[in-house]
Amino acid sequence: MKNEFDDLIEMHEYAWRLIIRGTVDKKSPARHPTLGTSGLFGMPELRTVVLRQADKMAANLEVHTDFKSRKIEELKVNPKVGLHIWFPKNKLQVRFKAVSEMKTGKTLRKKWDKVPHNSRISYGTLPDPGTSIPTPFSYKKPANFERFCVIKVKIEEMDLTHLGTRHTRALFTRESKWSGTWLAP
Ligand SMILES: Cc1cc2nc3c(=O)[nH]c(=O)nc-3n(C[C@H](O)[C@H](O)[C@H](O)COP(=O)(O)O)c2cc1C
Repeated sequence: MKNEFDDLIEMHEYAWRLIIRGTVDKKSPARHPTLGTSGLFGMPELRTVVLRQADKMAANLEVHTDFKSRKIEELKVNPKVGLHIWFPKNKLQVRFKAVSEMKTGKTLRKKWDKVPHNSRISYGTLPDPGTSIPTPFSYKKPANFERFCVIKVKIEEMDLTHLGTRHTRALFTRESKWSGTWLAP
């Protein structure tokens, strides 16, 4: 019987198919990866984000955020990030190590035009996200293109763990042109 999880090439392709599905299927676990950064005071920081784009050939992902969010301050100091997705039905864990790059401004106008209004209000919260406020609703959410920030995530390493009858784990790196190597799970 065919098993995608005991062949390095098939395991890598299988994982990418699941990841890419997250960009179009709101119910896919890949829709909402966990993004990890190094906090400003040395503690790790984790948060859920929406996966906006995934490109297997370039091994890049894309996430959108508010330029005034705390994660931006963290990424300015250290652009290295981690991402995590668990696919329960497929019993597959995906972990990425990556380097991020931020973009704001005019070149994003076409992307912004495609952002629906109810999503645009995620970019522009007043006061800035994370600011202490006196009541739960002491804030406004105007849509503000100037705060729209695209984070490009260039993947350096991809660690896949499959919890089948026999567990398998593999590491794929950009350096090795994604050829992959088995790891003890
Ligand atoms: C389901 C879900 C999806 C989210 N998607 C995003 C997103 O795409 N971009 C984003 O910046 N924050 C998103 N958030 C909010 C973040 O998890 C986080 O609370 C916010 O970005 C502030 O994080 P920071 O203070 O570390 O910057 C999402 C939260 C949830 C629960």
